Amino acid sequence: MAAMQYAQIAGWGMYVPSTVITNDAFVRMGLDTSDDWITSRTGIEQRYLVGLDEATSDLAIKAGLGALAMAEMHGSELDLVVVATCTPDHVMPSTASIVQNKLGADGAGALDMNAACAGFVYALSMAAGQIESGRAATVLVIGADELSIYLNWKDRNTCILFGDGAGAVLLKAADEPGIMSSTMGSDGSGAGLLTIPGGGSRHRVNSNGRKPAPQFLTMNGPQVFRWATQMMTAAAEHVITSSGLKPEEIDLFIPHQANMRIIESTAKRLGLDPDKVFANVDRYGNTSAASIPIALCEALDKDLIHVGDNIVLTSFGAGLSWAAVAVRWSAEIPAQRSPWAPFRQTFETRVAAVRSVLRRQQRRVGTVIDETLHRDS
Ligand code: ACO
Repeated sequence: MAAMQYAQIAGWGMYVPSTVITNDAFVRMGLDTSDDWITSRTGIEQRYLVGLDEATSDLAIKAGLGALAMAEMHGSELDLVVVATCTPDHVMPSTASIVQNKLGADGAGALDMNAACAGFVYALSMAAGQIESGRAATVLVIGADELSIYLNWKDRNTCILFGDGAGAVLLKAADEPGIMSSTMGSDGSGAGLLTIPGGGSRHRVNSNGRKPAPQFLTMNGPQVFRWATQMMTAAAEHVITSSGLKPEEIDLFIPHQANMRIIESTAKRLGLDPDKVFANVDRYGNTSAASIPIALCEALDKDLIHVGDNIVLTSFGAGLSWAAVAVRWSAEIPAQRSPWAPFRQTFETRVAAVRSVLRRQQRRVGTVIDETLHRDS
């Protein structure tokens, strides 16, 4: 009988854009708010926002390259690229296909996954399933979002909450966990509580003379808040129990970074010590699907995670949707990366770009030949 396969995290990377927006910037913009209100009600002090020509795939590629470099792998070794995002570059093609091409992941499948802020943990759970079933051996899971492009900068209830960014992990098949257990859930009766109504098939861009629906994010903050604390707790409890653990055996809890009060309330319900709870919402705001992988990268950077640790990742988002994963950490954190790694990666990425151009040319030539033969026959 074949040995059971598990999914282990072997690499990780993150990227945020360079523009920092502090709370005071909203006051200077003329919004009726204050640094004091935002900090005390949300815990957010600043967030990073994309520039005009930075698409979600641009952030995702940088985070993905970081995860590949950490695992000392190249895109050509991937079986699957999953991008969790609710702010894709286009309706189609998928952002994942754009990322797959730029990473030179020529042998990989690629798909986007939309579970809003819960997307990364959903994607992690699905990717682990692919590995456990033997359908894939290496999967790059990226969470990337630019919710700032859908914000109404005159709505103080929403625009102060979100930031942009991307984070990624590389999952590899292994003989031991890894991902120990996961859960995913949804309650569509709350779909209207947090939504970007316009742009899809319900309220079309081409609305045939009807008034187009807003393409801004709208949210019932207090209702989402109440639901989030309950669901994050329930989802975390689920994976802790199904991994055969007790809450006191959790070494680090990494919840979705939306609001410090939600994080504190969830940790209290779970009975966790505050020093076992990771938070960085103060510096990034809510980066949606990128929030958990960015937090994971920072926790690793701060030496808060060690081999053998039990980690719980819990997220919630529009849908309403939620997901949690329990992980036994297995990757050694390299003290130092090879000095050649960035050069090797630049070289391999350039080769991938050349291959991509050649494939485009090949398709063009193929089309011309087909048309010529068709005309002559
Ligand atoms: N500055 C000053 N006052 C504000 C601001 C602001 N930025 N925002 C709201 N207020 C005001 C409100 O207008 C209201 O005033 P009123 O009493 O005169 O009507 C007052 O503050 C209280 O408003 P509440 O909405 O009750 O404030 P609350 O304490 O609930 O905080 C918040 C609002 C921060 C939005 C909170 O409800 C929250 O974090 N909810 C969860 C949101 C969330 O996590 N969303 C992300 C989901 S993930 C995804 O998929 C995208």
